[in-house]
Amino acid sequence: MHRDRQNTAIYPGSFDPLTNGHLDLIARGSRLFDHLIVSVLVNTSKQALFTVDERVAMMAEVFAPFPNVEVDSFDGLLVEYAARRNASAILRGIRAISDYETELQMAHLNRRLRPETETVFLLASEEYSFVSSRMIKEVIKLGGDVAQFVPEPVLRSLRARFHEKRYIES
Ligand code: PNS
Repeated sequence: MHRDRQNTAIYPGSFDPLTNGHLDLIARGSRLFDHLIVSVLVNTSKQALFTVDERVAMMAEVFAPFPNVEVDSFDGLLVEYAARRNASAILRGIRAISDYETELQMAHLNRRLRPETETVFLLASEEYSFVSSRMIKEVIKLGGDVAQFVPEPVLRSLRARFHEKRYIES
């Protein structure tokens, strides 16, 4: 079958920072869509560890080997951004039942706002079902090793950030 239109999806998130769980989902999503745009939300109200530019730079390094994955950032409504980028789908991951409720709300809301955009869910792989950006920040802050939970460029940035912090605070 020949298709002229590229099948584009957006994988939106805070990615503060990107984890191996996100990476696994993006790798799997990149096999389902012609073009996958991983996009960092510019959220000025949320206190973030890394700036949006820092997150985009780390992620661009991680996804360099994936030819159909693009890293971008967005602000405003997700569905409007999806429309601007000609994306027909929003990709989200579900780790556990606790994610389901908020994801369900967002998907319904987004469908009301723009019915042309479908939300597609992938279940997180079992080995990453407990990994979250928030927990990773907590573990490294308390001196734990997070090497097994994040990609190498993220680990470097986390270590540099927490080394800087310890240095400044001491
Ligand atoms: O990684 P996160 O923080 O769970 O991602 C949440 C995100 C970015 C998907 C969500 O906050 C979002 O889409 N924000 C953009 C504003 C918007 O469109 N809100 C209405 C739908 S929830």
